[in-house]
Amino acid sequence: MGKLDGTVALVTGASSGIGEATALHLAEHGARVALAARRTDRLEALVKRIASAGGTAHAIEADVTARDQAKRAVDETVATFGRLDTLVNNAGVMLLGPIVDADPTEWERMLAINVNGLMYCTNAALPHLLKAAESEPRRVADIVNVSSVAGRVARTFSGAYNATKFAVGAFSESLRQEVTKRHVRVSLVEPGAVETELGSHNKPEVREVLSQRFGQMERLQSPEIADAIAYIVTRERHVAVNEILIRPTEQEA
Ligand SMILES: NC(=O)c1ccc[n+]([C@@H]2O[C@H](COP(=O)([O-])OP(=O)(O)OC[C@H]3O[C@@H](n4cnc5c(N)ncnc54)[C@H](OP(=O)(O)O)[C@@H]3O)[C@@H](O)[C@H]2O)c1
Repeated sequence: MGKLDGTVALVTGASSGIGEATALHLAEHGARVALAARRTDRLEALVKRIASAGGTAHAIEADVTARDQAKRAVDETVATFGRLDTLVNNAGVMLLGPIVDADPTEWERMLAINVNGLMYCTNAALPHLLKAAESEPRRVADIVNVSSVAGRVARTFSGAYNATKFAVGAFSESLRQEVTKRHVRVSLVEPGAVETELGSHNKPEVREVLSQRFGQMERLQSPEIADAIAYIVTRERHVAVNEILIRPTEQEA
């Protein structure tokens, strides 16, 4: 018996990295998993991988920066699997660089995905999560928001990314206070450096800085963050893990 048997999860940004690993972990615990992102070929491959391991998954093409697509991702999850118990707001982008002479288009893109997308998905999911929290099998529901060490500590050259992840922290804590008595748990996961595609969308000069900072370090792997997320959502009904900050051992700040 899996701890998430009978439940349904929606993972945004499930086409790579932390989201992909999280979908696999939640499926291993027995959840049926809806996978949302823009790259459907990767989502379809993950559906097959989960099915071949005995799980159930469904791919949903969605750009979470569009409010209607975020809502459709939630609606399609509920239409396909009948309910929604767990939302993992993982989709995100990290574009680093100085604030002086920055291209605000990059800021807009980060705000649109990391903040608006997360808020749209949350907004659409909440009625279903509140309903799931009143029903069997668990009588509790979860929102896990993937923030970052950058949501706790601001650094030079990551100001705009910091701003988006600090926003995620504020939104999460306010929502936690609002819905916790109704047994919807809101948790924040704050990874340090994880080996994923995240840095690859940056300009070459930023990628160079990143590889100097993290190149020699043994970084975290996505399944290690997925494990933390699975830990959060498999706790007993009365246990709310509000926050997990998880760095590679060699990462100082
Ligand atoms: N890697 C790290 O070191 C690290 C550290 C701290 C926090 N994080 C956070 O972890 C989360 C996942 O990142 P990752 O490291 O796993 O990077 P990743 O491999 O680049 O994954 C990012 C995911 O977000 C999805 N995504 C991007 N834009 C989207 C959009 N508009 N609509 C829907 N999905 C979108 C991508 O899918 P498509 O491109 O297919 O849409 C992809 O699945 C992010 O929130 C990131 O800030 C990562």
